[in-house]
Order: sequence, then C-alpha cells, then structure tokens
Amino acid sequence: MPHVLKGVILAGGTGSRLHPLTRITNKHLLPIYDRPMISYAIEALVKGGVTDIMLVTGGTHAGEFLRLLGNGHEYGIDRLFYAYQERPGGIAEALGLAERFVDQDRMVVVLADNVVERTIRASVQRFAAQEHGARILLSKVEDAAHLRHLGVPALDTGGRVTNIVEKPDDPPSAFGVTGIYFYPADVFAVIPTLEPSQRGELEITDVNNHYIGRGLMEYDIVEGFWGDAGESIEAYYAVNDFVRQHGANKD
Ligand code: G1P
Repeated sequence: MPHVLKGVILAGGTGSRLHPLTRITNKHLLPIYDRPMISYAIEALVKGGVTDIMLVTGGTHAGEFLRLLGNGHEYGIDRLFYAYQERPGGIAEALGLAERFVDQDRMVVVLADNVVERTIRASVQRFAAQEHGARILLSKVEDAAHLRHLGVPALDTGGRVTNIVEKPDDPPSAFGVTGIYFYPADVFAVIPTLEPSQRGELEITDVNNHYIGRGLMEYDIVEGFWGDAGESIEAYYAVNDFVRQHGANKD
C-alpha cells in the first residue's frame, strides 16, 4: 500500500527581516497580491494532492491563523492541525513539532513564505514513487548576492548533490535550495541529533546534508518562478509583483 503523504507548513519565526511590518502581524499573514502569504503554501500542497496538513506557527499572532483558516475546508484542506512553537528555534526544530501528526507517514514540508509559479504536483508524485530517502526542489538563481542568502548545493559532474552550504560566501553552484522539502518519517530521528548553527537555530540544511551523506537525496529543478517572500523587503515586493502579473501554483 502506498504511504500517505502529509503536509507540514512552517509559518513561525520572528520575521525580523521584514521589520517593522512584522511587529504587528506574522510575516506569513502579510499580503501577496490579493491574499495572505500563507494561502500560497496551502494551495501548493492542496493542488499537489496533499490535504492532511499541519500548520506550525508561534509568536504573538498565532491566533490569527485560526481566524483566517478555520478548519481549512474552504481552502481544500481535508484535515487541518495546528502546532505552536514556543520560541523560534529554526526550521528543523519547528518541523520536529509535527512528529506525532506525521507519525509513520511521509511528508511534504513547505516554508510558508515560499511561492512558486508552477504546481509542485509532479514532484509530489515523484516523491510518492521514490522508495527511499528525501527530495528537495532547487531553483536556478543567477545572482550570486541572492545565493548568499540561501542554501546552495554543490553538484558533482554526474549532477548529484554532494553537499549543501547554508548562506555561502562563495556559492558552490547557481542553484538555490527552495523551502519545499520531502522527507520520510525517519527525519524525526535526525532532528534530535542536530546542533544549533551560528545563528542559534536547528538548520534544515543539516537535515538535508544528513540524507545527502547517505546517498538518499533526490532533487527536481523547479520550472518557472520561485521566490522567498520573507528574505528581504525587496524579495517581498518582487514576489508580489510576480504573482500580480503571472499568478502562482499554475498547472
Ligand atoms: C531557509 C533555508 C535555506 C533556503 C531558504 C529558502 O532560509 O535555511 O536553505 O534556501 O529557506 O526559502 P531562511 O529563510 O531560514 O534564511
């Protein structure tokens, strides 16, 4: 029997890169064109066929998500669960809160500030058909200054990812690791082995390097636009402009 795929949306953090806007709300509730940012991550999962979803958030505005989303049915979610992160401790730490929700199933994890032009359905299906390990989505990023704000993969001549460097001074390739990840349930055994990074967080890049080191990481390259609207105020507006003109999560 194929494993069920569950969805985990990570919408915590302090949003300090978008201060002062994020002093009065959670970053993922700020508008992208005509709707709150979080709705794009939900749409990505639902259109990808993932309708059992946990939203992990934190901070002082967590209640607003319930007000916006309710039971999620209006958004095509079948069952919506919420988890609360007591203090920002990084993406990997936030993912750890979904352990009992995901249980023995596999998962698609989406950072709620990531927006893609094209549906992720094909990648979801490839992961569902994958026997072992994890999967990431890469996006071609030409601008080295932009790459320095991302996780960047090093690739060997055969095109395999050999390592991911988080926020590299010297980017090892022209691809960014997007905030859309596919993991088996054993990710919850990896998270407790992580050490906080220099920014004091449990890094999702360390999780990914764990799978890469074991030869258990696949990837796809996203077609069309990808943006992280939480990266900076410039990125926030670039994503807004793109979505206003071209839409998101298109077939
Ligand atoms: C996070 C990840 C980074 C990834 C980015 C994509 O960065 O750590 O590897 O490239 O999301 O949105 P952060 O937003 O935490 O700086």
